Parts: sequence; structure tokens; C-alpha cells
Amino acid sequence: MFLKQRNRLRSTPAIQFIQSIDSSWKGYELFAIWVVKKIKPKVIVDLGFDKGLSTIAFAHRNCGDTYGIDWVGENNFSQKRDSMEKAFHNISAAIRMKYVKNINLIIGPLTEISEKWDREIDLLHIDCAHSYDEIKEQYESWKPFLKKDAVILIHDVGAFPNETGRFFQELTLPKRLFAHGKGLGIATNNSSLHEQIANAWEETANLPS
Ligand SMILES: C[S@@+](CC[C@H](N)C(=O)[O-])C[C@H]1O[C@@H](n2cnc3c(N)ncnc32)[C@H](O)[C@@H]1O
Repeated sequence: MFLKQRNRLRSTPAIQFIQSIDSSWKGYELFAIWVVKKIKPKVIVDLGFDKGLSTIAFAHRNCGDTYGIDWVGENNFSQKRDSMEKAFHNISAAIRMKYVKNINLIIGPLTEISEKWDREIDLLHIDCAHSYDEIKEQYESWKPFLKKDAVILIHDVGAFPNETGRFFQELTLPKRLFAHGKGLGIATNNSSLHEQIANAWEETANLPS
């Protein structure tokens, strides 16, 4: 996936740092930075920050408040503790090097956190569980906070076609899809953004039928 006008996002030390973070989300960093510049969100919510890559990429423009939410689950305690330490390390480094200013991390189960949430959301990124039922539950629990023109990004649409992919397919919003990597679905009523994506980015795939 490439920006058609590449010179608009020249590679900076910050972008190189962001792209050096280990993650299966790799490949969407430039799009995250680009879309934040376009929609100038007041509130970004990133469901599932793992080692921090997506959250740092969304926060890089320092637009509004970026919230990363994740937990240390019961079944994979040592692995998750390791990821969380890496996230703290990566985010601290990004703040120290002034690549980001404003990241809020919330630790806990996503649904419980949504029950106490009270801010309208401009950009929601869902990259947590991969089963159809879990994604649907997460989406439904955060949906009441979405602004009318909010941008919803769903990762792993291609990696789990019968689960995440099926959920994305059923979303009744104007959509597009980046099919490279694990697949990133984009859903929004913001028709101007759809146009801007089509104009600026190559390799937007056809939606699955
Ligand atoms: C694929 S990783 C996220 C990758 C991340 N977006 C990145 O840029 O590297 C999925 C994350 O979702 C978290 N997660 C899954 N279910 C969750 C839940 N119910 N509550 C909180 N976090 C959850 C996991 O702990 C894991 O770190």
C-alpha cells in the first residue's frame, strides 16, 4: 500500500522509530498517521495496543486525545506481561524523543471499560479478539460513543475471513478495504474521507462479496 503522493509523508526519525516496533499490525502506520491528519480527531480509541505500535502511530500527529486499551488476560499472563512492558518501553521512548505527546493507556477488559466511558469518539480502531462474536460484542459496546461521521478501522479482516472478515462484511456503513498485510477494513459515513482515500492511496481492494 503506497501513498500516491509519497512526498507528503517523508520518512522522518519518528516514522522510522514507529515502523521499527514489532507487530502483526505493520503496514498500516503511514495510513494511521495520514488519516489522523485528515480527520483531526478529538478522541481516538485503540482497542488492543499490545506492544504499542498502533497507539503510537495514531498519536503521532498529536491531534486530540489518544486512548490505548488492553489488558493482561488470565490465560496468557507471562506473555502479556512481556508485551505490556514492551508497550510501556516503546511509548516512554516515543514521548522522550518527542514523537508523541499525548497517550492515555487504560488497562482492563474492553467491555468493562466501555461501561464507564463518557467521551464521543472520532476514530475507533478494533484490533483485539478475532472471533465474530467477540468483535461484535466489542463493537456494540463502543458504538454508542461513535460520532455520526466517526471512522471505524478493523484489523485482521483478511487474516480471519470467517470471523473478523464476516463482521466487517456485515457492517452497514460505507466501507473500503486495504487487503495487504492482515487486512484493514475502513468504515465511515464520512464521504469526503472515502474520496480522499481513493485519491491518495493505491491498492485499495474490492470489498469481499
Ligand atoms: C493483535 S493485538 C493488538 C496489536 C496492536 N494493535 C499493535 O499495533 O501491535 C490484540 C490485543 O488485544 C488485547 N485484547 C484482546 N481481548 C481483550 C479484551 N477483552 N480486553 C482488553 N484487551 C483485549 C490483547 O491483550 C492483545 O494485546
